[in-house]
Amino acid sequence: MRRILTGLSVAAAIAFSASVVQAEPKAEVMHWWTSGGEAAAVKVLKDEFAANGGTWTDMAVAGGGGDAAKTTLKARVLAGNPPTAFQMKGPSIQEWFEEGVLADIDDVAKANGWDKALPPMIAAQMKCDGKYCAAPVNIHRVNWIWANPAVMKKAGVSMPTTWDEFNAAADKLKAAGITPLAHGGQSWQDATVFETVVLGFGADFYKKALVDLDEKALTSDTMIKVFDQMRKMRGYVDANFSGRDWNLATAMVMKGEAAFQIMGDWAKGEFTAAGKKPDVDYLCAPTPGSGYLYNVDSFAMFKVKGEDKVKGQKLLAKLIMGPKFQEVFNLNKGSIPVRTDVSLAKFDACALKSNADLKAADKAGTLLPSYAHGMAMRGAISGAITDVVTKHFNSDMSSADAVKQLAAAVKNAM
Ligand code: GAL
Repeated sequence: MRRILTGLSVAAAIAFSASVVQAEPKAEVMHWWTSGGEAAAVKVLKDEFAANGGTWTDMAVAGGGGDAAKTTLKARVLAGNPPTAFQMKGPSIQEWFEEGVLADIDDVAKANGWDKALPPMIAAQMKCDGKYCAAPVNIHRVNWIWANPAVMKKAGVSMPTTWDEFNAAADKLKAAGITPLAHGGQSWQDATVFETVVLGFGADFYKKALVDLDEKALTSDTMIKVFDQMRKMRGYVDANFSGRDWNLATAMVMKGEAAFQIMGDWAKGEFTAAGKKPDVDYLCAPTPGSGYLYNVDSFAMFKVKGEDKVKGQKLLAKLIMGPKFQEVFNLNKGSIPVRTDVSLAKFDACALKSNADLKAADKAGTLLPSYAHGMAMRGAISGAITDVVTKHFNSDMSSADAVKQLAAAVKNAM
């Protein structure tokens, strides 16, 4: 009997050491990239992971902006079953780190020279207590107008550069029977439009209101004007806007059913996936005002057990920051590479404009984090702001009441 047991344990030991030697990289990757352009982009990463011997388990949770994915993530972490990697960004990386659940990928970062390849501000956001815990993929610009030039021509309007011009163009389009603004009534899309309206009243105002959360700015007459403009916007969307996904709104512009969409440059990923060309089939222009609202996508790694998963995380992190990957992924995604040493030779006019405006904004002090996409503040506060923005957009709440509720919501959430 004893001999059998000994025999068994030797066999088990051999099997164990064999499995250790053979541990292949594995990763369960949780993200919300399910639209045409997004899926094309994430496929680049999946394929590269597989080509490097990895096994990818896809955990896509549909829902633009990631609200549903973030809810699923919370449930998984609470159940003690986190994914290997999650599409996480901005201050939420620190929030999750404080929960003690994020893994350290500093060895990969050191071995691959991340500190040199990244803008210092972005490198700092990827670090937890001085060590890398997330890998950045791209820089998306949020404050863009996507437009259909044929429809604009038909109505005799040009690209607006102020909100007054926007309103004048929208009134003309409406009179011509064209929906001025393609919009999906989901709270994160309302928030996306709202932050560009805030920026249109000055980069300085944006910073005070949505970065510093300054009470004076939040309750100012300018903020009343912001909500007045949001009320105008509500009049420029079609009757079926409620609940519409953002990529379907992009399709409305593509098909000429609407003139404009205000959306980050993941919308360009949709145009690209449909074979459309900038300056020919569609136009891209910054929303009114000057400044650049940035949104950096990244993947954070969770503490997981098993050598295969740890290997998977390290491989994933290495690939994400690979210069070739950053080029191909971002050509599909609509964003620009976050690495500063990737050539933009293959990128289109919108991407080049994004890059030039990013640099100019950085110099001018008008490079600002997107509140709507989780770059500017902790989740509880941005959620509280978005609740008010959406409530106002979907009711007849006055601008004065919206401003009062906004300031109260921020105070409560702090
Ligand atoms: C953003 C994300 C983008 C894009 C968008 C729509 O929050 O950063 O990569 O996916 O949501 O889903």
